Amino acid sequence: MRVLVAGGAGYIGSHTCKALAEAGHTPIVYDSFHTGHDWAVRWGPLEHGDINDGAGLSAAIRKHRPEAVINFAALAYVGESNTEPTKYYRSNVGGMITLLETMRAHDIGTMVFSSSCATYGVPAHLPIVESTRQDPINPYGRSKRMGEEILRDACAAHGLAAIALRYFNAAGADADGDLGEEHDPETHLIPLVLQAASGVRSHISIFGTDYETQDGTCVRDYVHVADLAAAHVAALSVCQKGQFGAYNLGTGQGASINQVIERAREITGRPIKAVAEGRRPGDPPVLVADASLARTALQWTPTQSGLDNVIETAWRWMSDYRERRIEAKAG
Ligand code: UFG
Repeated sequence: MRVLVAGGAGYIGSHTCKALAEAGHTPIVYDSFHTGHDWAVRWGPLEHGDINDGAGLSAAIRKHRPEAVINFAALAYVGESNTEPTKYYRSNVGGMITLLETMRAHDIGTMVFSSSCATYGVPAHLPIVESTRQDPINPYGRSKRMGEEILRDACAAHGLAAIALRYFNAAGADADGDLGEEHDPETHLIPLVLQAASGVRSHISIFGTDYETQDGTCVRDYVHVADLAAAHVAALSVCQKGQFGAYNLGTGQGASINQVIERAREITGRPIKAVAEGRRPGDPPVLVADASLARTALQWTPTQSGLDNVIETAWRWMSDYRERRIEAKAG
């Protein structure tokens, strides 16, 4: 299948392109390079363009004739979404509308959408199931919930086939070292902990040590990016005309910040200085998925998401492959 991957030069998008190619599909990357990287586009054609540019999208679709779309194109800094909400709504909601209208004009009836556990806000119960109330606490989470609502309506009105995948904490890197996580600025815990291990930063700040969790630090469900990628490939094959589906992608296992840092010390063999700081506003204490629905409906079994493997692959990317991959492309 030819698949237009909007945002395919980003972290989860690029890993998904590799998984699509390995499954015999052709990923066609459409990316603005606002946060994506050209070295991460290696498994199919590339079209440079913005998600809000309907003419650019139409031209890419006319040229490559995709049969389905995966939409990763979005802004994803939770903190920035609080200070620049309209930027987030324009990209994440406006972009979704432009993409859906363009798809409809070209008779493309299938979309897999990159959603988030941020749509749940502070969950009313744990583990989080798909029917848990979606009550986001920041514009980023609201923009993703709106994206899902638009898709649900488009399925009912136009016979679109759509699946939203609600990621928990994406982490790790491609096992072959082809791809990894590169954000600027980096805000995610695991790459920051590994930067502290490598000496790029002096320490890792722990945002809050007084939560009601086993050790006082926040608990998250870290899921390997390659497992997320596999779920997108599976979702494409189960989308059904006129139906909207949403699935949690997580492991059901939570790890605290202290546990992550401790495992990272063991795995890297480096001392990692941790400094306790105050809470970061808007952090739910615990986010852990019940992903049974994805296991059944998508036949999705995470195989790479053990915390050690997540940290090991991220560490290998940072300490070994990263420079070679980026330089190879630049050269
Ligand atoms: N943290 C630290 N120190 C740091 C960075 C993070 O203690 O330097 C903590 C955070 O406060 C949080 C945990 O580590 O408790 C994980 O933080 P991340 O920023 O890695 O991830 P989040 O859980 O905040 O965010 C993730 C996704 C978002 C998504 C969100 C849903 O990255 O896209 O889950 O809550 F919106």
